[in-house]
Amino acid sequence: TNLPSVAQTQSAYFPIGTIAYSGGISGVQGDLVTKHFNSLVSENDMKWNSLQATQGVFTYTNADAQVAFAKAKGMKLRGHTFAWHQQVPAWVFQDANGNALTPSPASKALVLQREVDHITNVLNHFAPNVASFYAWDVVNEVIDPSQADCMRRSSWYTLTGTDFIDTAFRTARALLPASVKLYYNDYSTTDAAKLVCIQKMVAGLKSRGVPIDGIGHQMHISLNYPTPAAVANTVRTLATAFPGISQQVTEMDIKINDNGPFYTLYEDIPASVHAQLGYAWRNYFNTFRQLNGLIDSVTIWGQGDNHTWLTSGTEAEAPLLFDTSLKAKPAYWGVVDPSQLP
Ligand code: G3I
Repeated sequence: TNLPSVAQTQSAYFPIGTIAYSGGISGVQGDLVTKHFNSLVSENDMKWNSLQATQGVFTYTNADAQVAFAKAKGMKLRGHTFAWHQQVPAWVFQDANGNALTPSPASKALVLQREVDHITNVLNHFAPNVASFYAWDVVNEVIDPSQADCMRRSSWYTLTGTDFIDTAFRTARALLPASVKLYYNDYSTTDAAKLVCIQKMVAGLKSRGVPIDGIGHQMHISLNYPTPAAVANTVRTLATAFPGISQQVTEMDIKINDNGPFYTLYEDIPASVHAQLGYAWRNYFNTFRQLNGLIDSVTIWGQGDNHTWLTSGTEAEAPLLFDTSLKAKPAYWGVVDPSQLP
């Protein structure tokens, strides 16, 4: 069709990214990705359990197809992700007999060596295509503001303290050119306690000379929560605390509402709710643009409502710009041309 390209309409402000997954970069869906987006991130295929499920056995089939697609279409890539408590295989935290490692200097050294080996293999593998990458989510979701020290109690943390964070950034920096910026990526960055924790962690990294270039705001949000003003406050707070730091919206989607109403079938979601979502997309994008360069990339965690991590067997959600048939819906117009909103 002759609808405006989402990415083209935002090109004066930031590139617009989306996810790549098996089956999502061919046919009609692939055409939609190419037309409306200019940046790609693998939804799952560059995570540890996708690339090295078994120790020493690396599988790059899906990731390579996505990199090749991006390259062929002139799209840029965000890498995602190295140090995360999810989608990391159990063997990383086990001894040779498959028993859970217990904290000790030896197990710490072992886990950190596995982390270095993983990052090194992955970045050496992608080195020939490194010019296509502009960002990497090196460390993901390690903060838990309910802990006095702010750190999530993951196996990474239990076995290495916070050293796995420093090691991930240092290892990635040593293998990537400066053109690929390195991010700490997290959700709920508008949460006041979490924001304080993020500031403490980034300040600590910087004081130790650990190379971090930016902060990723996932933005898995709900209809009008957090408010656009809260998002702007978070971005400005971090920009002031860390002059020159890059900030990106990395995984945006909008749920209808955390507390319902819930719709079992997609078809049950009323037009009025689609309209509300459209106005919400408009309001967030107005804020992103008004932040005037403080946000340098916006990635949406999907294309059509046919493929989203938010829809389960019992709950349909409509969190993306296109509907389950990949037709533009109010969310699309909220970003591209709010004068068309119902
Ligand atoms: O690949 C297996 C398949 O072999 C198996 O048959 C099937 C049965 O459950 O599972 C498949 O794996 C699933 C995988 O997605 C690929 O489809 C996992 O169960 C499922 O948990 C996984 O979900 C992903 C989730 O991260 C994992 O936590 C979502 O697709 C992905 O959208 C989501 O993305 C995360 C970001 O990476 C980080 N921030 C939050 C965001 C949303 O949760």
